[in-house]
Amino acid sequence: MGQNRKINAVGILTAGGDCPGLNAVIRAVAKSLLPEGVRVYGFLEGFRGLVENRYIELDDIQASGLLTAGGTVLRTSRDKPHKMPASDGGTEDRIDEIVHNVEELGLDCVVCLGGGGTHKNVGRIMDRGGVNFITIPKTIDNDVWGTDVSVGFDTAMFIATEALDRLHTTASSHHRVMVVDIMGHNTGWLALGSGIAGGADVILIPEIPYDLDLVADSLLARMDRGKMFSLVAVAEGAVSQAEAAARKANGNGEDKKKKAKLDAHSKEPVSAILAEHLENVTGLETRVTSLGYIQRGGIPTPTDRLLATEYGMQAAKFILQRKFGVMVAKRGEDFIGVPIAHVADKRRRVPQDDPWVSAARLVGTCMGDEMPHGYKRKQRV
Ligand code: F6P
Repeated sequence: MGQNRKINAVGILTAGGDCPGLNAVIRAVAKSLLPEGVRVYGFLEGFRGLVENRYIELDDIQASGLLTAGGTVLRTSRDKPHKMPASDGGTEDRIDEIVHNVEELGLDCVVCLGGGGTHKNVGRIMDRGGVNFITIPKTIDNDVWGTDVSVGFDTAMFIATEALDRLHTTASSHHRVMVVDIMGHNTGWLALGSGIAGGADVILIPEIPYDLDLVADSLLARMDRGKMFSLVAVAEGAVSQAEAAARKANGNGEDKKKKAKLDAHSKEPVSAILAEHLENVTGLETRVTSLGYIQRGGIPTPTDRLLATEYGMQAAKFILQRKFGVMVAKRGEDFIGVPIAHVADKRRRVPQDDPWVSAARLVGTCMGDEMPHGYKRKQRV
């Protein structure tokens, strides 16, 4: 009986860092549901809007013109509903207010677009009961567990690749080493994908700890062959072998979360440490370029627009079937529902034997742990 109950109203919100393609998902969800007589409420600034009951009703006019727009018209935040800033300077749990607001508005479901943090937040609200959720994975880091790809990744990879292309010309014209700092939090998908596509000579990712001396030797070996410039793509979370060993000895740290934050936003980025060392060893002028938030900005690529539209349409299908509590995931050519509880505490990392890693190695890219294919390490004089 309950399965056939009509869907009257849904909420939608975007949480975590913005990325290209969010508006295209919002549009697709709204355009798929409005003709079915479903009211669509867009909550503002992530979970904060849900806590404070701040929303706009999305009609056919408002759902138009969004396909190509970057960012999110609903705005976003990294607020956690169980730890909202309180007036005394501390934090307070406001999940009960969410449950109340959703009931008052008569929402059958709330669609949340987000990455790892968002899935944890949704999990916490689900534990309290009373709200149905569907989530859609979005992040330029592409690290949401359970799906092949997240909205926003393709655009960020396109931007980082274009940046590498442009840096290539200065590297070769000046005989310089160009170290490029690429986002990705604690995973290396973005640096790896754009590094391969942009022809980087060295790609360093968190999943493959690097040996600084070996990286320098790989550049020297290139110079021996007359290649007097190099492009080094470094993921912001890349770690040296020494650091990785120290972390392991510490049981990966007592407070993993705090540590991860420090790693991602450490005062001296790994790119700066690398650049100094590489310049000393190679004697080549070395420059660092940090791509920063440019990687998250602007219009989505056609691939992200398509993906966003398919994700939004599939979410609407699940809602009309009353299939709640799932993240819409892409597996091959199919879209499936993965229980949100399975996603919340995991991260999709680059496997050591990922086809992209193998491809990079085969075309002679140094991944930081061994000399590039076809190159020998020489004793330094
Ligand atoms: O998750 C997306 C991302 O851009 C990461 O690549 C980066 O580490 C982080 O967000 C930056 O966070 P913020 O937007 O809070 O500075």
